[in-house]
Amino acid sequence: MLLDYPVDSMSMPRSMNTKTLEIRKVPSRDWTSGFFAGNLWQLYRLTGDSKYKEQAQKWTPFSKKESVNSNSHDVGFKVFCSFGEALKVENKKEYEAVIVKGAETLCTRFNPKVGSIRSWDFNKEIWDYPVIIDNMMNLELLFEASKISGNPKYRDVAIQHANTTLKNQFREDNSCYHVIDYNPTTGEVRKKTTLQGYNDDSVWARGQAWAVYGFTMSYRYTKDPAYLKQAEATAKFFMTNKNLPEDGIPYWDFKDPSIPNAPRDVSAAMVMASGLYELYTYTKNKSYLAFADKVMASVQTDKYILDTQIKAPFLFDHSTGNWPKHDEIDEPIIYADYYFLEALIKRQSLKGSK
Ligand code: GLY
Repeated sequence: MLLDYPVDSMSMPRSMNTKTLEIRKVPSRDWTSGFFAGNLWQLYRLTGDSKYKEQAQKWTPFSKKESVNSNSHDVGFKVFCSFGEALKVENKKEYEAVIVKGAETLCTRFNPKVGSIRSWDFNKEIWDYPVIIDNMMNLELLFEASKISGNPKYRDVAIQHANTTLKNQFREDNSCYHVIDYNPTTGEVRKKTTLQGYNDDSVWARGQAWAVYGFTMSYRYTKDPAYLKQAEATAKFFMTNKNLPEDGIPYWDFKDPSIPNAPRDVSAAMVMASGLYELYTYTKNKSYLAFADKVMASVQTDKYILDTQIKAPFLFDHSTGNWPKHDEIDEPIIYADYYFLEALIKRQSLKGSK
């Protein structure tokens, strides 16, 4: 992994085409813009090597201006995966200020009639008020901002969003839809649909992982047993699914008819591993620990580690970004590395657990 990747104030490495060796670089407005700084902070925490910290300090400001960008719900990913990680290492008021500013911005997208934060503004001819399961991940920014500032508003918005998601986003079998479209005037559900899954009724793997992680994290801040129950039910759906390969790395969608020839998604497995280590701490259910350990062992093999001959700022190959758009299929993607490193840190804190 090329860790001394040069700081560029205009673009961050997001993914890579392993055939052409071209690295896809994105500006700060991209939803992934906080992950590279986050990776460097986490590498510093894992190794204590100051060169990671120096690089992390240089990369962190990259996503700062996104704390006032209200164009999508992704302000949580962009701001919290960089500044939130920075704050775990350096207790700086300036980091706290960016997090609170980001939370303020995210709350401008909240509609009390719907009880949710609006995810996206595009596809207006199709959707009136789309809310995606990924949005659960942005609630961590809100919960932390209330802790930092003492202002309960951000936490209240997070709780209302989680409750609305709990009510509308899950199926009977505890898998979740990707997108719920609401009527912003009445708050009623208009459509249960998808953008990144195989079809509306399919089960997009990373979406299930966002749900497990998102409700486990929301339980951390609220101790609401309904959140824990949902996280466990969706984890069970994922872990026991007949279409999950033996090594625990899912196909990108559990219902892609081309399984077993469908691409895998390492990123979904890493989000699950990180979520399950935390879920284990609240439930002491050893199957979560065993499953997360299994997928962590699976990815740390030649099958998934990015070919060491390739000089690139990525650890793992074989993630799938957006299959319906034919975008980032079976490639190294930065957020797989982020959640792997986070899972490693969480596993270390569980030392001695088997
Ligand atoms: N929108 C985040 C994702 O692709 O999972």
